[in-house]
Amino acid sequence: MMTTKKLEHGKAQIDDSIITVMSGEKECNYRSYVGNVDDYDIQAAEQFKILTTLGLRDCHKLLDIGCGSLRSGRVMIPYLQAGNYYGIEPNKWLLEESMDRELGRDIIRIKRPTFSYSEDFNISEFNQKFDYMMAFSIISHTSQAQTRRCFSQAAAAMEEHSLFVFTFAEGPEIYTGDEWVYPGVSTYTFDFMSQMAAESGLKLERLDYCEPGFQTRVVAFKPSYEQALLDILNRSPIFKTKGDLQARFNTILEENKYLTEKNKELSAENVDLHAQLHEAKTNLAKFLSNPVIKGALTVRRGLKGKG
Ligand SMILES: C[S@@+](CC[C@H](N)C(=O)[O-])C[C@H]1O[C@@H](n2cnc3c(N)ncnc32)[C@H](O)[C@@H]1O
Repeated sequence: MMTTKKLEHGKAQIDDSIITVMSGEKECNYRSYVGNVDDYDIQAAEQFKILTTLGLRDCHKLLDIGCGSLRSGRVMIPYLQAGNYYGIEPNKWLLEESMDRELGRDIIRIKRPTFSYSEDFNISEFNQKFDYMMAFSIISHTSQAQTRRCFSQAAAAMEEHSLFVFTFAEGPEIYTGDEWVYPGVSTYTFDFMSQMAAESGLKLERLDYCEPGFQTRVVAFKPSYEQALLDILNRSPIFKTKGDLQARFNTILEENKYLTEKNKELSAENVDLHAQLHEAKTNLAKFLSNPVIKGALTVRRGLKGKG
């Protein structure tokens, strides 16, 4: 049976069934520590879908920044070739618990993932370039200094073709605190986030993924790779690209123009028909008021009455 104990923030306790920790006021296990447990599986599927749509294949090297309870790792580690998955996660207990419960030690032995417990985004310690990097629900908690550090470390480990996919909490406020915010979020405007990325020579493109999400999804890349990335996005069935939106917008503009013209034509026809109707009514009234016609009609009505 599962037993739980009240623990200090971030401290873990192993019991006979599951590890529990205190995160803020809440008691968590390894799945709930990283977010809503009901979304745990579907978020993993979404992360995998986004990365593979952007071109991830099993021969690529992937770095999962803030890999937490291996939500994505439990899909990525078996998928990638041995030695190709790298993860950073300061909470060692999360990793240990997830390796035991989500993957099993045999897969860890066969696939040989590499982990770091770095708390300051020390990507350079891997001494490795990565084809893909991901940071889901990480930049949504970072201070400006942490975000800048993450971008500069990421950029240094990127090849020309490398892509860094991450999410952040987009909002009108720019977080100015010095602390990692958890379980709440630090918000930034898209422009400010782009500015921080640009300081490390990276450009950002929104990933307008078909499923609406709480956080903004973005891909960071080196400017020289922009056209290749846009080609990937344009071909992709799951992203609404700027091109798609522009095309849809143009179609709506054209439709709107056509409907406005049609409306004008119909209004003019309408005015014309009104005028004709008015003229016809006036003529009829004139015709009926003619004494000869009036008399003839009276005689006709009288005959009808007799008939
Ligand atoms: C909301 S969870 C997201 C985990 C994972 N990316 C996912 O999508 O399931 C945030 C994670 O960031 C980790 N974290 C905290 N400080 C960090 C840091 N300085 N660098 C990297 N990860 C950190 C937390 O331990 C936690 O696992």
